[in-house]
Amino acid sequence: MKTILITGGTDGMGKGVAMHFLKKGDRVIVVGSSPGKGKNFYNDAKQLGAEKRAIFLQANLSLVEENRRIVEEVKSKFQSLDMVVFCAASQKYRETSLETEEGFEFTFALYYLSRYVLSYGLKELLEKAENPVILNVCAPGMKGTINWDDIQYKNNFNSQKAMFHGSRLNDLLGVAFAQSDTEGKIKYILFNPWAVQTEGAFDAYKNPMMKSIVKIIYKITGKPVEEAIKPIIKLLENPKASLSAFKQEKEVSLTMKTFDKENAQKLFNITVQLLKGFSNENKTVEK
Ligand SMILES: NC(=O)c1ccc[n+]([C@@H]2O[C@H](COP(=O)([O-])OP(=O)(O)OC[C@H]3O[C@@H](n4cnc5c(N)ncnc54)[C@H](OP(=O)(O)O)[C@@H]3O)[C@@H](O)[C@H]2O)c1
Repeated sequence: MKTILITGGTDGMGKGVAMHFLKKGDRVIVVGSSPGKGKNFYNDAKQLGAEKRAIFLQANLSLVEENRRIVEEVKSKFQSLDMVVFCAASQKYRETSLETEEGFEFTFALYYLSRYVLSYGLKELLEKAENPVILNVCAPGMKGTINWDDIQYKNNFNSQKAMFHGSRLNDLLGVAFAQSDTEGKIKYILFNPWAVQTEGAFDAYKNPMMKSIVKIIYKITGKPVEEAIKPIIKLLENPKASLSAFKQEKEVSLTMKTFDKENAQKLFNITVQLLKGFSNENKTVEK
């Protein structure tokens, strides 16, 4: 029996992946912020007769301290982790940037910082598994540049652009993780699902009319969750390189500028400094 941790495993693609592995007989830990969605997850697991292998951990992953708490909780309860899947995100339209109580921009914190803290924080547990893998669902290979002067994308805020920027940060997270992982046991996969028919994806639009139009477009060009997760499952079960990137089934070339190694190191250094700055340094799990 494998143990899989899925952030955002209570809805959308994360939930799809969670149910797949529960059906297979594996143990699945999902992390989400809403207790109601956690309850639904338990009910769905019960229907499969998998309630003993289903674990819901409630956490607001936009807070670094919450990510650290999850790392400690998972470490204290489980011997090893076979897979970690990052799906937690809020694609909701926002007019202005939003600061978390820790002082980070919300999208930056939830979409990038959380995945950084969990990737490095859970590394030790993953290394205890036979063939460990991290799959980061974002949008690898998205053209554009990193906003080095405003890494959190607080100024001239645009919620969609902040997500695109966050995705580029995740590309660099994957590169930095693979670069620093001298043991090379953990396979890091960056995955772009393209257009998937989830409620979260439709939340990205403010105007109800626009929302309806996008729903129609997604009905035609997008995929339902059950279809969209097929390549995710395949990659999780067959991870190959220490770092790879995919847009659905198609491999994305790591020679793209978005995977620049120097930029990855630069972002890593900035992140270490940001995390040192705001709280108890002794608790820092990432070095
Ligand atoms: N759908 C698409 O078309 C599409 C396209 C490209 C990339 N992606 C990426 O794919 C991933 C999954 O997308 P999706 O559309 O399947 O997601 P979704 O349906 O919107 O689900 C998001 C999940 O994240 C959790 N979440 C949100 N805020 C959280 C917080 N503060 N703390 C903890 N958990 C939180 C949600 O649970 P709670 O509400 O309980 O917190 C939910 O389980 C995301 O990274 C997204 O950016 C999606």
